[in-house]
Amino acid sequence: MHDYYDEFDSTGTFRRELTPDEMLKLIFEYVAKISNEKQVDNLLVLMADLGRQLVVADRCTLWLLDDAKGELWTKVAHGIPPIRIPATAGIVGHAITDREPIILNDAYADPRFNQEVDRKTGYRTRNILALPIHNNDGEVIGAYQAINKMTEAAAFSPKDLEYIALAASYSGKALESAILYQEIEDTQREIIFTMSEVGESRSKETGNHVKRVAEYSRVLAQGIGLPDREVEILCLASPMHDIGKIGIPDAVLKKPGKLTEEEFEIMKTHASLGYEMLKNSRRPILRAAAIVAGEHHEKYNGRGYPHGTKGEEIHIYGRITAIADVFDALGSDRCYKSAWPLDRILNLFREERGQHFDPHLTDVFFDRLEEIVAIRDKFSDIFTKETAPEA
Ligand code: C2E
Ligand code: SIN
Ligand code: SIN
Ligand code: SIN
Ligand code: FE
Ligand code: FE
Repeated sequence: MHDYYDEFDSTGTFRRELTPDEMLKLIFEYVAKISNEKQVDNLLVLMADLGRQLVVADRCTLWLLDDAKGELWTKVAHGIPPIRIPATAGIVGHAITDREPIILNDAYADPRFNQEVDRKTGYRTRNILALPIHNNDGEVIGAYQAINKMTEAAAFSPKDLEYIALAASYSGKALESAILYQEIEDTQREIIFTMSEVGESRSKETGNHVKRVAEYSRVLAQGIGLPDREVEILCLASPMHDIGKIGIPDAVLKKPGKLTEEEFEIMKTHASLGYEMLKNSRRPILRAAAIVAGEHHEKYNGRGYPHGTKGEEIHIYGRITAIADVFDALGSDRCYKSAWPLDRILNLFREERGQHFDPHLTDVFFDRLEEIVAIRDKFSDIFTKETAPEA
């Protein structure tokens, strides 16, 4: 990759700081690359490169925190496996633990520096700069680390720290969405695993029902102005609202007629069962799914289950999924009922505004009805494999 300062380095002696013009050009160049990059690994390489050139360091690494393993990991180049170190290791570990940047210009004089690494590699670390980086929620997600200033000063300055912080703020958002993207893939794998373990025979409502509920949830979440990330998360989580039905016996779940009171009590446990299944995950999507599973049968007037939670004490994800789920259930054939025509469904929604359903969300539902009906038609059950007419 083209280096801004290489051309001033022909004598092999000191490099010089970038001029403001060069710095601006460098940042523009990288902002373009970074915002087009969706792969976390590639972003790490790009951001490290940007940091290295900005502060005229010999090396620069962007470490990401893997909380579950208590490790930092990075990717230094394409085709080389990720490197992992304990999250508390070295100067960068201290910066993360203390949530403070560190500049060390005489590494060997600091007891926190582990000289072992240099002994192994033959490299001589003089200066280290480490800066924790945060996501939008203020949580530390990793750290920048720059090693050995290559100018005559041979020391990092507070100005360098500012430049690195600038690089982090330019690329932080791209990095976060790439991490989210990767997390979505990880989560989907996790879910598919869970579902396939249980077997797909349990519930007939999976296929298009979950797609519709996801899309209705998206429309409602956008309609009340939830932030994009939350809309995305809810959209991925809401299909799991009935995952607790996995724990309901067939005799109840698949009963063709009306449930007895006793059977309905059993049925109602699917909310808590789902919550219990999902509550221990640390992935935001599955955490959201736990909320949705636990609260999608709560009612705005406090007469729902499992807890009888009321009004805005019901999580917004629960209130949204309640509308999405009931709208879909009423419009579909079930083993115990036939699909209702749209006007009957809408009448019920008018009656249940402020009763079963959040009144504000009900208004959003009616405002966006056209969109919602379009989703219903697009993911209609009529042309599924089993029922599609022979060609
Ligand atoms: P589901 O079939 O996905 O229905 C979700 C929710 O949609 C229901 O939650 C209810 O709020 C609404 N809903 C569905 N069908 C009707 C209906 O015909 N009239 C009205 N007013 N609302 C309806 P709910 O009642 O808490 O039920 C939860 C789950 O329990 C249902 O999920 C279904 O799996 C099961 N279930 C409920 N009633 C019966 C029944 O009579 N027979 C059988 N076999 N299962 C039932
Ligand atoms: C990871 O665990 O690899 C990072 C994704 C996360 O934030 O959980
Ligand atoms: C990678 O995607 O390069 C590694 C991710 C990880 O190990 O957490
Ligand atoms: C549960 O505890 O079973 C559901 C979670 C909730 O409603 O808060
Ligand atoms: Fe349910
Ligand atoms: Fe459902």
